[in-house]
Amino acid sequence: MSYSIAIDGPAGAGKSTIAKLIAKKKNYIYVDTGAMYRAMALFFLESGIGADEQEKISAASKHVDVTISYENGEQIVWLNGRNVNGLIRTEEVGRMASSSSVNKDVREKLVELQRALADKENVVMDGRDIGTCVLPNANVKVYLTASSRVRAIRRYEELKAKGEECNLDVIEKDIIERDYRDMHRDISPLRQAEDATLLDSSDMTIEEVADAIIALCK
Ligand code: DC
Repeated sequence: MSYSIAIDGPAGAGKSTIAKLIAKKKNYIYVDTGAMYRAMALFFLESGIGADEQEKISAASKHVDVTISYENGEQIVWLNGRNVNGLIRTEEVGRMASSSSVNKDVREKLVELQRALADKENVVMDGRDIGTCVLPNANVKVYLTASSRVRAIRRYEELKAKGEECNLDVIEKDIIERDYRDMHRDISPLRQAEDATLLDSSDMTIEEVADAIIALCK
């Protein structure tokens, strides 16, 4: 039987950094489900489909092939046979992913892929609905959050380090809007699973959070 750790939470809570670290420490596979929604979103953007055009999103999702592979422990996302890792980390793609992920056809397709991965391998999987929908029987479930200000500051520092122009208040507003959309959609909204442990990373270091999650595995 494979072992699974599910980490859900809002944008910028530190899920991917922490999930990657735990995967390394435990020699598990890290599955970044947000990257799959982002790859689909990139396809919709490239096809000229708008964020509100749900019928077009449904129809287009039938032609999308999203798969993942691993190179030196890093997840590579393939969109119709093309490595799109370098294209999916923009704010535009993130916003489109948040909008198109409300779509039932998009979710069904990706949830199937995520479950197939967790069936085969020991995984640390992060996202919005892992503990509540994708892996309801995960061995460990964590709901990782932090205040919107702390999350905005982290994002601001990241963008600054890349030399991008940014404004802290605009980033925080964007984060709050994204949280609202992710928490209020009809299908698999972001929420803490009843059996998940709540961790607030606002005043914790990455190592402290990772150690707290590893302790839950024992
Ligand atoms: O974690 P992220 O920022 O890369 O995710 C991008 C969007 O994808 C997020 O706003 C909502 C959606 N998403 C989802 O609906 N379910 C998941 N399991 C992961 C991401």
